[in-house]
Amino acid sequence: MAESPRKMFLAGATGQLGSRLVAEWIRIRQPCVVLTRRPQRVPAAWLGALGNNGEKLIEVVPGDPLVPGDWQKHLTQASGVVNLCGENIIAKRWSAPFKELLRTSRLVSTANIRQYLVEAKNPCPVVNASGIGFYGGLGTDEVDESSPGGDDFLATLCMDWEREIFGPTLPGQRQVALRTGVVLDPKAGALAKMLPLFRWGLGGTLGWGTNYTNWIHHADLTGLILHALSCASVDGPINAVAPNALTNQEFAQTLGRVMHRPAFCSVPIPMIRLALGEVAKGLITQHRVKPRVALDTGYTFQFAHLKPALEDLLG
Ligand SMILES: NC(=O)c1ccc[n+]([C@@H]2O[C@H](COP(=O)([O-])OP(=O)(O)OC[C@H]3O[C@@H](n4cnc5c(N)ncnc54)[C@H](OP(=O)(O)O)[C@@H]3O)[C@@H](O)[C@H]2O)c1
Repeated sequence: MAESPRKMFLAGATGQLGSRLVAEWIRIRQPCVVLTRRPQRVPAAWLGALGNNGEKLIEVVPGDPLVPGDWQKHLTQASGVVNLCGENIIAKRWSAPFKELLRTSRLVSTANIRQYLVEAKNPCPVVNASGIGFYGGLGTDEVDESSPGGDDFLATLCMDWEREIFGPTLPGQRQVALRTGVVLDPKAGALAKMLPLFRWGLGGTLGWGTNYTNWIHHADLTGLILHALSCASVDGPINAVAPNALTNQEFAQTLGRVMHRPAFCSVPIPMIRLALGEVAKGLITQHRVKPRVALDTGYTFQFAHLKPALEDLLG
């Protein structure tokens, strides 16, 4: 009997980044298995997507990545694994139980996938989400993948997450930690939240304006995941940010210009802290992050500069 074709495996598919990746896999006719706790949220377009020979492209597997179970059997035949699971960082104020959920949803899902791949002796490449929060909040130094981690809550979370990603694996297996910046997408995430304010003429800087906004167009985020899956020299952390980060003030002014709206407002740091609590740290204090590994391994950014990226997203 012919073996069934090997597929990609994606956890966290229904989120901002996962949905874009699935759309790209459908476009290039890449079969995949998607794990979700909420199969009812899977778009009809995924279920109806067909490959070149009329076969279903997307197999939806219900399951909770925090609980080992039957879903893990789908890892045995995976040709590559992408794990984008994690409770949304900016969904709520960071109470102690919510901080614990931010950690477990990332560390336990990662462990359940990595350990099972070792047991199943499947040495396929794994691309696992992480964040540029790894580098810590303070300072405006230039950092790249060789820079040390920070010491605030987000940095500690990312370092523990990456310890799980780079835990015991099979010889030759590539584990990639995707240290993601602010993914620009008009449908979800930070940009979607900013757009109404700018439309009402209330757009402007967050904090003192000199902090960096390390952005990336969603098409490049998807492109980097595909690059990391296929390029043998990507092994370890990779910064998923565009090569030209801007200060928060330059970012706001560019967004205002592209939208033909003023961007003179400035939300002072005490007000951000009052509104958001500790999560504000992750938004307002950021280093300038360079995508050294992406550039050194031959990835060509579709959108290296902010203005054309925003024109594409908002045009
Ligand atoms: N978007 C960004 O700008 C950005 C920046 C830096 C880092 N990241 C990281 O990249 C990953 C994906 O980001 P995203 O923006 O796509 O996130 P998202 O929209 O919040 O989606 C995350 C996915 O994770 C799963 N999930 C959520 N809470 C969970 C929980 N408590 N237990 C298990 N699974 C849970 C969900 O899948 P189901 O409900 O389908 O099971 C959800 O679709 C996250 O880990 C995030 O921290 C994102």
